[in-house]
Amino acid sequence: MIILKSPRELEKMRAANKIVAETHAYLAEHLEAGISTAEIDRLGEEFIKKAGGIPSFKGYHGYPAALCISINEEVVHGIPSKKRIIEEGDLVSIDIGVYYDGFHGDAARSYGIGRISEEAERLIKVTEESFFAGIKKALLGNRLTDISHAIQKHAESNGFSVVRDYVGHGIGQKMHEDPQVPNFGKPNRGPLLKAGMTLAIEPMINLGTYRVKTLDDGWTVVTADGMLSAHYENTIAITEEGPEILSRI
Ligand code: MF3
Ligand code: CO
Repeated sequence: MIILKSPRELEKMRAANKIVAETHAYLAEHLEAGISTAEIDRLGEEFIKKAGGIPSFKGYHGYPAALCISINEEVVHGIPSKKRIIEEGDLVSIDIGVYYDGFHGDAARSYGIGRISEEAERLIKVTEESFFAGIKKALLGNRLTDISHAIQKHAESNGFSVVRDYVGHGIGQKMHEDPQVPNFGKPNRGPLLKAGMTLAIEPMINLGTYRVKTLDDGWTVVTADGMLSAHYENTIAITEEGPEILSRI
C-alpha cells in the first residue's frame, strides 16, 4: 500500500531530509585520503544527533553503524571500520538515513578521492545523471516504471550496467515503504504517480557486470566481477508542480 503524504507530513519529510543533506555537506569536507570509514561514521552520527535526528540505519535489521560507506567494488551497505582507510584514487559512496519528527530521509552520494581514473569519474557522473533522467519522468499521470526505464536507458547507453538485486523505495514514517522503485525495466508499468508520493530513488550503477554478491559480514554488497560501482540517491516528493528533491540543501 502506497502512503500519500499530506502537506503537513511533507513538511516533516523536508525537515528530516534537510538533516540528511546537511550531513552530506559536512562529511564531504572531511572526506580525504587517510581518514578511516569509522571516523566518517562517527562524525556523521554526531552531526545527525546534534541536529536532533536519529540515524535511521543503526540497528535496522541489526546494522551496526550510522552510515553505509562503500568503496570501489563495494556497491552498497559497506560497514564503517577503523581498519578501512580511505585512499587516493578511491571511489567512495556514502549513504545517510535520518529519522526526525516521525519521518525518514535517505540520500547517497559518490565521490572520487584526489585523482581518480577517467572511467571512475565518468561512472560517478553518469550515475548522478541517471537519477536526474529518472526524476524527469516523476510527473503526475506517468507510471512508476517510467522513472525506472529512464534510469536504465541513461546508464546503459553510456556503457554501464544497472544493479538489479537492490532497488529504491517509498519512504515516510518507515524507511522502506511501498512501492519498490527499480532502476531498470519497461516503461508504463506499475502504479500511477500521485501527488504526495515520497520515493527514495537510488541508482546503483556498475562499470562491468550488473551482478552482485554479499560478503561474509552479511552486509557488504560487492560487484561479482570486482569492478567499480557508484550510488546516487535522493528522497523526492511527487507534487502537482512536479518532482521536488527533499534531500538537497
Ligand atoms: N539507503 C539504503 C536503503 O534505502 C540504506 C539502508 S542500509 C541499512 O535501503 F543498513 F539500513 F540496511
Ligand atoms: Co534508500
